[in-house]
Amino acid sequence: MPVIDRIADFADDLTAIRRDFHEHPELGMEEVRTSGIVAKLLNDWGIEVHTGIGKTGVVGVLKGKGGGKTIGLRADMDALPIDERSNLPFASKTPGVMHACGHDAHTTMLLGAARYLAETREFDGTAVFIFQPAEEGLGGARAMLADDLFTRFPCDEIYGMHNFPNGAPGEVGVKPGQAMAGADFFDIHIRAYGSHAAMPQDSKDPIVIGSALVGQLQTIVSRNVPATASIVFSVTQIHAGAAYNVIPSDCTISGTMRYFDPDIAELVRQRVRDLCAGMAAAYGVGIEFDNREIFDVLVNDAALSDAMLAVAGEVVGADQATVTEGVKMGSEDFADMLRVIPGAYCTIGHAGTVPLHNDAFFLDESILPVGASIYAKLIERRAVG
Ligand code: NI
Repeated sequence: MPVIDRIADFADDLTAIRRDFHEHPELGMEEVRTSGIVAKLLNDWGIEVHTGIGKTGVVGVLKGKGGGKTIGLRADMDALPIDERSNLPFASKTPGVMHACGHDAHTTMLLGAARYLAETREFDGTAVFIFQPAEEGLGGARAMLADDLFTRFPCDEIYGMHNFPNGAPGEVGVKPGQAMAGADFFDIHIRAYGSHAAMPQDSKDPIVIGSALVGQLQTIVSRNVPATASIVFSVTQIHAGAAYNVIPSDCTISGTMRYFDPDIAELVRQRVRDLCAGMAAAYGVGIEFDNREIFDVLVNDAALSDAMLAVAGEVVGADQATVTEGVKMGSEDFADMLRVIPGAYCTIGHAGTVPLHNDAFFLDESILPVGASIYAKLIERRAVG
C-alpha cells in the first residue's frame, strides 16, 4: 500500500507513540498527559501550538508556502471506562480505563501527518491540527467550539477519521450526506415511597412502576413512529434498591435515543414526557425526565466526501476507497464541528476484528502510517489556492 515514504520511514516512532498512549489512557476531559505529549511533539517539530481549548484540547497551526485554503484535521484523544483484558504487553496501566475505541491511534495518526508536513512543507495554505478531548459522549467537540475554535482558527474544510475493525486493512469508506445518527442520553428519576418489603401496601413501589414504564417506553418506536424512520430507543440502565427486605424510595432508568430526523426525535421526547406524566399521575409519584442532546446527526458534505475519497484512494488504491452505503446508528461528535464547517469523515479498515468498545479490542498498528498519509495528503491536495 503506497503510504508516503517519509511516513513509512518513521512508522516505528508512530507505533511507539501509540503504545505509550495505550498504556496511559485518560478519560474525557482528563487527557492531561496525552495533550501534554501532543503539545510537546508539535512544538518540537516547529508547529505553532495552542493548548487549553475545550479544557484539554490542543490545536497546532502550520503554514505552507503561502496562499491557499485552511484545512482542519481532527483527531480524538479520550479513552473509555473499561477494564482492559487484551493481554497486550502495552495494555492499560490504569485500572478501569482503556483505549477501546482506538483514539490513541487517531491521535498518533494526526501527529504523524503533522510531523511529515512540518518537515516537508510541500503545500500552499494552512494546516490546522485539532486534537479533541472527550469524544465519548462527554461533549469535547462542543467544548472546543464554545472556546471559539473556528473563530480563532477559521477553516475552509475539515476532515476526521475513525479506525474500523472490519478485518479489511486499507478499506476506506465515506457516506455522503447523513452518515451517523444524532443521539440523546436520558435519565428518568422516579421519586416514590419506600417501605418494609413485607408490607408493600405502605409503599409506592418504584421498581414495579419503573418496570411498567420500561415496557411503555418500548411502545413509542413500535406504535408512534413511522416504520420507515431509522430510530433506536434503548433503556440501558435501571438502578434501584440495595436490600432483600426493603422496597426502595427511588428508581432511575437511563438510556439513549439514536435518530436522523429531528422532528421524529422531538416526537419521541414528547411521548416519553407524556408517558412519565401519565405514570406519575396513575401511581401518585414524581417522575422526572432529564434528557440531554449529546450528538448531532453527522452530515458529510457531498463534494468533500468525494474529495476525501479521491485523496484516500491515492494512499490505499482507488478501488479500496469507496462510498459507504447506508447510515450508521452509532454517533460521533465530529458531527458538531461539521455543522459549523463543511467537511467529511471516513472510516479506515484494519486487520482487527474485535468490536470497538470491547474490553479486548485490538488495533492493527499497520493502520498508523496509512491514516497519517491520508491526513497529510488532504493538506497537500486541499490546502491549495
Ligand atoms: Ni471512537
